[in-house]
Amino acid sequence: MIKGVIFDLDGVIVSTDEFHYQAWQQMADEEGIYFDRHINERLRGVSRMESLEIILERARKQYSEDQKTELATRKNNYYKVLLDTRLSPKDILPGVMKVLTDLKNSNIKIAIGSSSRNSPSILKHIDLEAFFDATADGNDIKKSKPDPEVFLIAAQRLGLEPDECVVVEDAEAGITAALNGGMKALAVGSAISDKRAHFAAKDLAEITIDQIINIS
Ligand code: BG6
Ligand code: MG
Repeated sequence: MIKGVIFDLDGVIVSTDEFHYQAWQQMADEEGIYFDRHINERLRGVSRMESLEIILERARKQYSEDQKTELATRKNNYYKVLLDTRLSPKDILPGVMKVLTDLKNSNIKIAIGSSSRNSPSILKHIDLEAFFDATADGNDIKKSKPDPEVFLIAAQRLGLEPDECVVVEDAEAGITAALNGGMKALAVGSAISDKRAHFAAKDLAEITIDQIINIS
């Protein structure tokens, strides 16, 4: 029986994709590295340093570990400026508030399971800081998605077993992580055509909480 729902943050609860893209694009332009929206799709759900490695596939020189740290920090600083100046509750994705409210009213526990180290700041900017029963994010984990660590920590913080939880994800790596963790997977957005998910929808506006908790 489903007793909890663990939501990925970026691309599921809130649209931060454009800010990630603009920040990576600025860093790549400064370094003379080709980058576009198509390559950006590969960064969905992937950790910051793994994202950088994907971008560096197009680099014309080798970067040392220290230089890579500097590039990732530079991108993150651009990203944080965008979060601070542009992110607000209007960036919450369609259907999110209704699904979260309906789950709460039905006594289903809700958590965040995100790879992002910026997760606490993002939740603050969209005024959902105090809304979730538990959160687990990039600051809590050693292994990023597709490893299930972040979802297992979220389930544990909810006091639930993995098989009592549904994960909502927009990234292939996140669907893999949910399945690796023994959880049900609901694919939304970019993950909609991932056949491995137990259920799929364009966004949370297209789904009812009955469909979520009866997922099998
Ligand atoms: C994920 C995003 O949620 O977080 C990825 O989908 C991002 O694109 C990852 O790389 C890490 O985010 P951050 O904020 O820690 O750089
Ligand atoms: Mg995501």
